[in-house]
Amino acid sequence: MTDTIPQLASHDEPALDQAFRTLATEVQAETAALTTPEAQENFRLHWLGRKQGRLKLISEAWLKSAPAEARKPLGIRFNQLKQQIEQALEAPASQKSAVVLGLDITLPGVIRSPGIPHPLLETMRQIVEVFHHLGYSTNLGPQVETDFYNFEALNFPPNHPARDTQDTLLIANQQSKPSRDRLLMRTHTSPVQIRTMVQQAPPIRIVIPGKVHRNDAADATHSPIFHQVEGLCVDTNITFSDLKGTLDHAMKALFGSSVKTRFFPSFFPFTEPSADVQISCIFCGGKGCRKCKHSGWIELLGCGMVDPAVFASVTEERRKTNPADDAYNPEKISGFAFGMGVERIAMIQHGISDIGHFYSGDMRFLEQFA
Ligand code: PHE
Repeated sequence: MTDTIPQLASHDEPALDQAFRTLATEVQAETAALTTPEAQENFRLHWLGRKQGRLKLISEAWLKSAPAEARKPLGIRFNQLKQQIEQALEAPASQKSAVVLGLDITLPGVIRSPGIPHPLLETMRQIVEVFHHLGYSTNLGPQVETDFYNFEALNFPPNHPARDTQDTLLIANQQSKPSRDRLLMRTHTSPVQIRTMVQQAPPIRIVIPGKVHRNDAADATHSPIFHQVEGLCVDTNITFSDLKGTLDHAMKALFGSSVKTRFFPSFFPFTEPSADVQISCIFCGGKGCRKCKHSGWIELLGCGMVDPAVFASVTEERRKTNPADDAYNPEKISGFAFGMGVERIAMIQHGISDIGHFYSGDMRFLEQFA
């Protein structure tokens, strides 16, 4: 690289060709080294700089003093050189390095760490899989639900106090609609029981994983958005012992074969009888510890036999399209349902004490599941 401009030997064409060929070779050699933005900028200043750039110097040394008949051949060559320089500056520096340096397979590659399923989704998948092995299939439903599916069809009549147990997030400006059509964020996955039965005759064996929403303040064990897996089985001769056997098996599959289950009377408007299921404490084996509040048992899910009032709502809906429908006649069929919180199960599985970890996106937490 030199900034002094040689004297032109003469102004005939071969002499001009020779002079510009030398410059073009110089430009080409420098182009090869334009692998960084800084190198590119230096190159630009070196050739195109307004005061000391080589093109400026060349134009002063060669063009200004040239005899009139040499102006045109000089100008043409000058413009070609300028174009060559501008083209060299157009390609991005990174691209040039690939072209110029080629592919060096001995360099370390770009390491992209493989992703993992989020621990909540992984627990949800495990729960669903246990039931898939029992012949259940999966159904999904909307998170924005109508009052009918979330409450009324599940035997929560309008203004019934049982609605108070589900701190509901309502969609605004629904007052002009009939109460059954008003929109809300679903408070549980149970509305998908209704959606399924309205569309499908028994036998039914489905699990319903999904997000649910409640007007709960966030604390160590509550979050306004959380996840449930619901189950529904409807067929001839389904009894409470089928429910007990199914859930006992599921809990053993999820927490280990030494886990015991017990069923406590409870209440849900859409099941009768209803029960809360407890498992023997997996931390102390049932002896009693802080985790199980020294009771030896951990409460895990709600369940029960489908209430005939639910079958009645389903039948009423089905008769809108088929007036003779009798698929959900409680004299002929029966069923059970259950619902469990995914966060709670994942927290017990992994010994997590704050539900907020699941949603914080903190890599130090998430990486532990890789
Ligand atoms: N939907 C109930 C809840 O969210 C749980 C449940 C589901 C209970 C199915 C019984 C049967 O609290």
